[in-house]
Amino acid sequence: MASPSRVTLLVAAAAVAAVLNLVAAAETGPSAAVDLGGSKKYEGSSEFVRLSYHMGPVLTANTTVHVIWYGTWSRQQKHILRGFIRSISDDSAPHPSVAGWWRTVRLYTDQTGANVTAHISLGSEKNDRHYSHGRSLTRLTVQHVIRAAVAAPRRPLPVNPRGGLYLLLTSADVAVQDFCAGACGFHYFTFPSIVGYTLPYAWVGNSAARCPGICAYPFAVPEYFLPPRERKRKAAPPPNGDAGVDGMVSVIGHELAELATNPLVNAWYAGADPSFPTEIADLCQGIYGTGGGGAYTGQVTVDGRDGAWYNVNGGSGRRFLVQWVWHPHLGYCYGPNALDQGHQ
Ligand SMILES: *[C@@H]1O[C@H](CO)[C@@H](O)[C@H](O)[C@H]1NC(C)=O
Ligand SMILES: *[C@@H]1O[C@H](CO)[C@@H](O)[C@H](O)[C@H]1NC(C)=O
Repeated sequence: MASPSRVTLLVAAAAVAAVLNLVAAAETGPSAAVDLGGSKKYEGSSEFVRLSYHMGPVLTANTTVHVIWYGTWSRQQKHILRGFIRSISDDSAPHPSVAGWWRTVRLYTDQTGANVTAHISLGSEKNDRHYSHGRSLTRLTVQHVIRAAVAAPRRPLPVNPRGGLYLLLTSADVAVQDFCAGACGFHYFTFPSIVGYTLPYAWVGNSAARCPGICAYPFAVPEYFLPPRERKRKAAPPPNGDAGVDGMVSVIGHELAELATNPLVNAWYAGADPSFPTEIADLCQGIYGTGGGGAYTGQVTVDGRDGAWYNVNGGSGRRFLVQWVWHPHLGYCYGPNALDQGHQ
């Protein structure tokens, strides 16, 4: 999700709402939608989806993700999230892999025909463990936190407008404007007036203490679904043992896929209003496998030993659950664990 005001929840049902929002579709630029002839067979598909290219850049250069750890993070939590970012370009992980998931994102091109990069690497990291801007951030203070990291007197994050992305991760005790009341994460670009440069960035928060049933679904179940005991029983075991952080993995995947295809919010999105773009991951919220949609995650792997739910493998034997993204040729949501593997 891109816009500072757009409201998006990761509740599975939101995928349906997202599709229904697209009736008034943009007609600028070449359309990537296929005519499905009214078919609702595929995940997230709808004849109303008109994902279009709006002539802006996509991330074609080798890209480095610089992480700002805001607040209090354990070593283990950092390991999980670093492991996910490192897996995006790790072709050695067994199929279905995180790199296989990124392959769908790589199908998006800019007007020169250049594809989204295959090379995403983890860059420098900055710890903001003393909550430099407090425990309650607004959309604008998020940019000030990034500025503090790139302008720090000691070991500032490198500034690389061509191949640098900035990922602000806030710990479970930090409130962020619209967090839980609409957003689990967002991406945008910094303003030169605040940061000194136009840099694509994303924020993702640990929802464990605030709204795990919304932002860490299905590792937690929304409160309005079930009584507390039932909720605990119905929650899926997270593959890395941390519901909040395992939930962040999918939101980080969501935001990185959208940053890559719509970094300045003028490239790939659906909808007529650029202030409320519906992007390639918005279209597939809550869909993790074949048959997903509505309140159903779709078919994922349930580990025979620990019961953990996951759909992709990463490096070093790690497992992750990552939502699918919109496939520009097929015109529906797709991931490497799709039962129909006829497509790339
Ligand atoms: C991009 O990254 C790949 C893999 O690390 C490397 O082989 C290639 O030389 C890089 N390209 C540029 C232009 O830096
Ligand atoms: C680049 O994008 C085009 C258009 O979607 C696609 O046909 C091609 O396979 C992509 N290349 C890679 C390496 O993903």
